[in-house]
Amino acid sequence: MRITNAHLRSFRNHRETAFDFGARVNVLLGENGQGKTNALEALSFLCLTKSFYASSDAMVMQQQQTFFEVRSTMVSDEGKEFQVRVAYDDTKKEKKFTINGAEAERFSSVIGMFPVVVLSPENNAITFGSPADRRKFADLVISQSSAAYIEDSLEYRRIVRQRNAVLADANGRDCSAEIAPWNEMLVNTGARIIHRRSTFLNEFAPFIARTYLEIVDERETPRIEYAPSVDLSEAPTVGGIAEAMMAKLHRKRNDELRFRTTLVGPHRDEMLFTLNGMSLKHYASQGQHKTFLVALKVAEFFYLKERCSETPVFLLDDVFSELDEHRSRKLLTVAESLGQIFITTTSEKVFGGAEWNNERRRFFIRNGALAGTLQAA
Ligand SMILES: Nc1ncnc2c1ncn2[C@@H]1O[C@H](COP(=O)(O)OP(=O)(O)OP(=O)(O)O)[C@@H](O)[C@H]1O
Ligand SMILES: [Mg+2]
Repeated sequence: MRITNAHLRSFRNHRETAFDFGARVNVLLGENGQGKTNALEALSFLCLTKSFYASSDAMVMQQQQTFFEVRSTMVSDEGKEFQVRVAYDDTKKEKKFTINGAEAERFSSVIGMFPVVVLSPENNAITFGSPADRRKFADLVISQSSAAYIEDSLEYRRIVRQRNAVLADANGRDCSAEIAPWNEMLVNTGARIIHRRSTFLNEFAPFIARTYLEIVDERETPRIEYAPSVDLSEAPTVGGIAEAMMAKLHRKRNDELRFRTTLVGPHRDEMLFTLNGMSLKHYASQGQHKTFLVALKVAEFFYLKERCSETPVFLLDDVFSELDEHRSRKLLTVAESLGQIFITTTSEKVFGGAEWNNERRRFFIRNGALAGTLQAA
């Protein structure tokens, strides 16, 4: 797919900014704090119905305003045109997503229609951070390829919240009767999530192996190992996982009463990233972390392209700041070969000598507005 244009209103520091994008490379240039990342964030709303990093819709709304809006024309690989609009009204605390004038009833049906891959400084948490950061990575990829997974994840979160409330109310006393129905729901929905994650990581393995080999010169073997909350058999089934979860719930009954929280289920899963068998988190160098992350994101691109039968757009936020010139150019070459890309940067050094035309555009952003679009003379 391609994003042909985007019109931002009251979005962060953009009061009203309209972009006509190039078909392949779009470089958003500007000094710190001018609104480059904000523009990428607006594009993520079109694809994911939400920000790739802010936790609430109200946060991205321009201060002193009561709404924001992002409008856009997107074109699928087959050439089909979509007029997409996402708007948030703070007075009603309501977000609406419309495609060609028709309002989407469920956001889960939109996510994955316009696939996107984001590489941003926040993503460093995927390799450096906690299990929750790695789960979030996997969840976002799976969500774009499965609406059912999004529905299950929302439902699961609700179940855990309510089950925790039962455990809190029990105040350490036995609550077997009250908790029994929640156990059923927890293991049924939880098992579907664990099963899907396990399938995803198996499917994803060849993608990460291939991109790593292409991007990195050295012979390093990356792996992602799934360490779910319950032990999986060789060929896990949803039913088998549910049984294992239920058995573990019984074993953990006293601990759950004591800690007043749900201790079994996919919200406790871990995913271990390794290079040549060594834990990335504990042993890898800064450069290895970054390279792993880039390979992960390029693998995500190819995975989504296959699963969604649509070429994702690639948003690269501030990716050159930690890379030397050689690696920056290499990343740029790889990214450019993928599809339509959007890159924010404070310096065009890495683009030195590039030609600007209809395919490759650069936008100067100053104080939440377009200070100019430059094409080749
Ligand atoms: N809700 C909001 N309303 C108005 N302005 C906002 C809002 N949220 C953030 N800003 C402003 O947006 C600016 C930051 O924009 P952004 O993060 O896009 O900068 P950037 O161009 O990517 O900079 P850098 O190169 O440092 O990453 C800040 O000046 C901030 O005050
Ligand atoms: Mg930025």
